[in-house]
Amino acid sequence: MTSKHRKPYIAGNWKMNLGRAQALDLIKTIKGRLGDGSDREVAVFVPSVYLADVAAVAQGSPLGVGAQNIYYETEGAYTGETSCQMIREVGADRTLVGHSERRHLFGEPDEWMARKMRCALDHGVVPMLCVGETLDERKANRTERVLKRQLEAGLMLLKPDDYHLASIAYEPVWAIGTGEVATLEQIGAAHACIRKFLAAKIEAEIAQTVRVLYGGSVKPDNAAAIMALPDVDGLLVGGASLKPDTFIPIVEFDS
Ligand code: 13P
Repeated sequence: MTSKHRKPYIAGNWKMNLGRAQALDLIKTIKGRLGDGSDREVAVFVPSVYLADVAAVAQGSPLGVGAQNIYYETEGAYTGETSCQMIREVGADRTLVGHSERRHLFGEPDEWMARKMRCALDHGVVPMLCVGETLDERKANRTERVLKRQLEAGLMLLKPDDYHLASIAYEPVWAIGTGEVATLEQIGAAHACIRKFLAAKIEAEIAQTVRVLYGGSVKPDNAAAIMALPDVDGLLVGGASLKPDTFIPIVEFDS
């Protein structure tokens, strides 16, 4: 199976942006301009406080709505956190896990990622594990080592049957929100490394079902070239996902 057998997955990560009215306008516009979802999967990861409203608008459409983060406990004294049940209850069906901003700004350790992945899967929330190296790690030629460490930690508690649900986003930290997109060669090498890791870890047939997305300064003018790389199955878009004029052309990239 080649990457072209995996359904392309284009996702927007709104991060901590947009007022409520803007968020609702945006989701309505995306929904209105989305096809039937048969040839590509489209989702948005939205601030938790808007999840219920955004999911209500998206309901009945192929548009996926997810959280940007979850905690791995089911309930309890965890001030400020959101559980998988809560995410599900308000109509969201997926979550990011280990986004670089969670890892680097909020100090979330590798060990949490496995628990978050397990918790999401146990509660019917489809997880996307985010991995990626910092600039210092790249300069020190440690990119592959970092990716493998993050993958090993994040996928540790997955069972073979879970893999077809999970996806992975490769987001080099230095390319996030900087306008500096990784070169096609760098993206190709990192994605090949991730696919190699998966192939060594699980049965080839299962490994081939996992989609690997690229994220980091994706824009309408670079989306098609990145998507044309053999090991790239999707895009995780930050800044350019906040406006229909930049997000829709990315969603509609020419394959
Ligand atoms: P930018 O597209 O703004 O670089 O953000 C990428 C990202 O972090 C998506 O999760």
